[in-house]
Amino acid sequence: MLRDYLQNRIFKRITGASRFIMENNPPSVDNLHVKFQNINELGIYLHIPFCRYICPYCPYNKELYQDDLVKRYTASVIKEIDYYASIAGSRPVTSFYIGGGTPTTMLGNGIEQIINHIYKSFNMKCHVHIESHPNDLSQENMNILKSLGVKYLSVGVEALQDRHLNTLNRSYSASEVKQAVDRAVNTGFECVNVDFIFALPGQTYKEIEQAGNGLVSMGVQQAATYPLFRFPYTKMGQNSIKNESGIPLLLKRRKMLSILENIFYDSGFYRSSVWAFTRKGTEKYCSVTVPLYLGLGASGGSYLNDIFFLNTFNVTEYIKSLEQNKIPVALSVDLTENMQMAGWLYWRIYETRFRKNDFEKRFKTSFDSKYGKEMKFLSRIGFLKDDGQQIVLTDKGAYWLHAFEDWFSIDFISKLWGSSKNIPWPEKVVLTGS
Ligand SMILES: C[S@@+](CC[C@H](N)C(=O)[O-])C[C@H]1O[C@@H](n2cnc3c(N)ncnc32)[C@H](O)[C@@H]1O
Ligand code: SF4
Repeated sequence: MLRDYLQNRIFKRITGASRFIMENNPPSVDNLHVKFQNINELGIYLHIPFCRYICPYCPYNKELYQDDLVKRYTASVIKEIDYYASIAGSRPVTSFYIGGGTPTTMLGNGIEQIINHIYKSFNMKCHVHIESHPNDLSQENMNILKSLGVKYLSVGVEALQDRHLNTLNRSYSASEVKQAVDRAVNTGFECVNVDFIFALPGQTYKEIEQAGNGLVSMGVQQAATYPLFRFPYTKMGQNSIKNESGIPLLLKRRKMLSILENIFYDSGFYRSSVWAFTRKGTEKYCSVTVPLYLGLGASGGSYLNDIFFLNTFNVTEYIKSLEQNKIPVALSVDLTENMQMAGWLYWRIYETRFRKNDFEKRFKTSFDSKYGKEMKFLSRIGFLKDDGQQIVLTDKGAYWLHAFEDWFSIDFISKLWGSSKNIPWPEKVVLTGS
């Protein structure tokens, strides 16, 4: 296919590698000890794969909540924490993110135990960031979240008009979700983020304007506004929508995003990543803020300089593996220095700004000698500004460069997550090359 051919060519040009393959080859404990010798600080990602219902567009690893499974999951995550805590020792953990699935399904059902165990086992120097579902945000639950040290709370709002909530099959109305966000804002977290999905089937520019103003008027500190991504292995991804694909869809998304940009900029927000806008003066809500991280739970991914590895996606297999005192890693890949550099740049483009100095500190080589030519070209076509020290993407650049990244990542994610969901312990997954 032309798409595969182009992706292989571009991947080779950027990383110097002709293949990117993850294999069933988990790192040994000795190997991990060696890797940690070069690690001064790290982040933790914890995956909670349970939801009360399954949304037709959702690509994440999740399954329906079941009480008995959740109890066993809690015990297994605790074992996994013990395993990594003995390797990480006293290295500071400077970022902690709990994502899902829906982490708040486990409130009162094990999440407290897991969070407390993490704070007891690692040298935690940060507060909790956690994702939540609007239906879980009773005042009682929000008080529990606060008492657990949650300072950054994200709420999956997704839409503010009932007809779009219906399309997404969400189980609440626009007025109910507004009340839930109101309770979150009044509870006094450091940052409340709302997730919002746009470019939905049949959505109009007027509706985007109304929803953008609605998000601002909720008094939240941040809004993350994603276009609806269609992952081929989800229900909504399989139902291709007439007249809503290719370049027309890219242009529609661009126009909708620029309506949202204008609303947020006029209301005192700045762009804190490709899709997120944060109120000036507040610290942003974001997933993992340090470049190296450990991923716990089913489908948790870990990145430690020259290796990336991924736990099995299958919840029962994840539990069984830890019950048998085995680490639940299903796939791993060793990363060449060129791949690490390309990965570094990928995430900085996502964040929309970076200092060249940070690249030089990490890779001990000049940023300009590695990527200077490409940056000059992108600056000439108005995608970024380079003042010599810092690179900042323009709004146009943030959108189009990320659309380009998505061209790879949606395909990679579909291959990796799609096959990991079907096969608990795949022998290998070929992401590019053969
Ligand atoms: C794990 S969910 C958030 C928490 C909770 N499970 C919920 O749904 O409210 C993460 C976020 O990813 C976004 N998301 C999920 N699937 C998406 C898709 N296909 N396209 C764009 N955004 C998506 C949604 O905004 C969602 O809130
Ligand atoms: S969008 Fe949220 S609630 Fe819906 S299936 Fe995905 S993780 Fe679960």
